[in-house]
Amino acid sequence: MANLSTNYLGLELRNPIIAASSGLTNSLDNIKKMEDANVGAIVLKSIFEEQIVYETNKMIQSSEDSLDPMKKGLNDVLNTRSYDYMEAMDYMANFAKEHTLKEYLNFIQLIKRSVKIPIIASINCVTTYDWSLFAKRIQEAGADAIELNIYLLPSDITKTSGDYEDLYKKIIADVRKYVSFPISVKLSYYLSSLSNTLIALSKSGIAGMVLFNKPYNPDINIDKLEISTGNIYSSEHDYLRSLRWTSILASRVQCDLAASTGVHSYETVVKFLLAGSKAVQVASVLYEKGIDEITAMVNGLNTWMDSKNFKTIDDFRGMLSQVNIVNPAVLERVQFMKSYANIF
Ligand SMILES: Cc1cc2nc3c(=O)[nH]c(=O)nc-3n(C[C@H](O)[C@H](O)[C@H](O)COP(=O)(O)O)c2cc1C
Repeated sequence: MANLSTNYLGLELRNPIIAASSGLTNSLDNIKKMEDANVGAIVLKSIFEEQIVYETNKMIQSSEDSLDPMKKGLNDVLNTRSYDYMEAMDYMANFAKEHTLKEYLNFIQLIKRSVKIPIIASINCVTTYDWSLFAKRIQEAGADAIELNIYLLPSDITKTSGDYEDLYKKIIADVRKYVSFPISVKLSYYLSSLSNTLIALSKSGIAGMVLFNKPYNPDINIDKLEISTGNIYSSEHDYLRSLRWTSILASRVQCDLAASTGVHSYETVVKFLLAGSKAVQVASVLYEKGIDEITAMVNGLNTWMDSKNFKTIDDFRGMLSQVNIVNPAVLERVQFMKSYANIF
């Protein structure tokens, strides 16, 4: 039996398989099942910026409805002074924010009381908002680390790549000011000069990077002639983008790397470790095959290590990262000349 333990974000994981943030990590029951299935760590379902804004709007809407003349006496409405109204709205916005956050903090405390594996909280942010203060309270609630899912789609034609990069840096810097526990950032690949930008971000005091989040991709329904929802789950072939960038960046970034998107089998876990990841994150495969798939992946990794006579993950981690291979150019080839030549 090989030693599968790995250190990720300064946390000791019994193995490198992490349950990624998803609806499955939103329930105590599932998290206990994941612990029993031998998962290394868990990233909780994110608290979403949009979720807080939604809760706030919902509360404001229901209060506006109560001021509707059809629902309330007209005189009452006319008597409502505007500054009282603004003050009330402000109060409700803060209340909704606090309510959503408190539910999340209570959940973290419950999970920490119930399982022994490391628990990484997650916030999904697209602006600087109040994340730094939220992160502080998440640390106080007992989470072992925080993953910031900063997913910025650079679709605003008035903004430059520098504007987007500054926003990433600002969110990280703001959160760092208030917390001392490890921060990881789950990133998009929609960044310019990807190597240079990610190496710079890795020097911003974060403990880890997750390469990459899977964006929601809209599709088009050609019968209804409308925009539809693309597949939210990855396929087992979707890991190649993350694999290339993990291999290129391993040993070059100044933080740990974890892989995400398309990790569906122990073979893919092995590939990411060879490329230089400290850990991998899985979501879609657990939806499609069930939580017990974690056990199959851990066992598969163990059997493979035994077959190669590797005693620890560090015996082979990074062996096939770009800095360690004889022909580094293979990772940078983007044209299919050789493959095409073989096919045609
Ligand atoms: C149903 C579902 C819900 C998800 N919710 C979150 C979330 O709340 N926060 C987050 O950072 N990622 C979320 N993700 C993204 C996953 O954490 C993961 O990065 C992505 O699915 C790619 O990994 P996979 O190929 O193993 O599915 C979600 C994914 C799925 C399928």
